[in-house]
Amino acid sequence: MRHLMSPLDFSVEELDRLMDIASDIEKNRDKYAHMCDGKVLATCFYEPSTRTRLSFESAMLHLGGRVLGFASADSSSAAKGESVSDTIRIISCYADICAMRHPKEGAPMVAASKSRIPVINAGDGGHQHPTQTLTDLMTIRSLKGQLGNMTIGLCGDLKFGRTVHSLINALKRYPGINFIFISPEELRIPDYIRIDVLDRNNIPYKEVIKLEDVMSELDILYMTRVQKERFFNEEDYVRLKDFYILTKEKMDMAKKDMMVLHPLPRVNEISVEVDDDPRAVYFKQVQYGMYIRMALILTLLELV
Ligand code: CP
Repeated sequence: MRHLMSPLDFSVEELDRLMDIASDIEKNRDKYAHMCDGKVLATCFYEPSTRTRLSFESAMLHLGGRVLGFASADSSSAAKGESVSDTIRIISCYADICAMRHPKEGAPMVAASKSRIPVINAGDGGHQHPTQTLTDLMTIRSLKGQLGNMTIGLCGDLKFGRTVHSLINALKRYPGINFIFISPEELRIPDYIRIDVLDRNNIPYKEVIKLEDVMSELDILYMTRVQKERFFNEEDYVRLKDFYILTKEKMDMAKKDMMVLHPLPRVNEISVEVDDDPRAVYFKQVQYGMYIRMALILTLLELV
């Protein structure tokens, strides 16, 4: 039995296969419509979510399976003090696979260690968000035709943004990747990523504060929201929340085939006027998220 805690749990070859399945699902939806007949997905979300929870549920429903679960800690027995370890033992009696989001780093891993069913990390604190990374890789591969030989700018909250940490870990395995980190001093990428992931693997990168200074160099711009829920004080959040706003004027500085991704939700960091630019692909990204989660469910249930 396999779980998914980090994008590194799959080799590059396994990720390729997962994306191939997702591409096939996109083209041949009917072929997959009953592959999960009789199977049940549990979504155990201790933190708010729109995309991740609903795309998992939609994925399972499109595969012919059924879903159950809870959308907040308050609506489960976690509110009475039940541990994650006990909860997953219970969920293992009701479902065949579980997607779990939790505010504490490592909680889905604790669950996996006690589970009788595959557990998928659907985001743990500021740590990892592997299925968002699968979505991001699928989007880049589908729209750019490749995953290597690119300059990727990651902009915004690089300290608390778990999607950023997961994506760096995944992309470092492809040749010719060059990162540009764009953040205020207070929201720089953590040392454990800079030293243990980038320096140790000789991955080229630079850090800048102004987006305008690097806009023309980028093949991909990955925008992120400042993570309000991870700040210790409101004052710092208010000071930093609108540090970056991507506008039409800034898009004019970019390459004609540059692409803007965003894991969403968006707050103010991308002006809505950018949505009509064909290089803004963050809503297409959401659709790829469902296909790749369908492929993941089938893979972890060993149905493909
Ligand atoms: N991208 C993402 O994780 O969105 P949700 O928080 O809405 O699931």
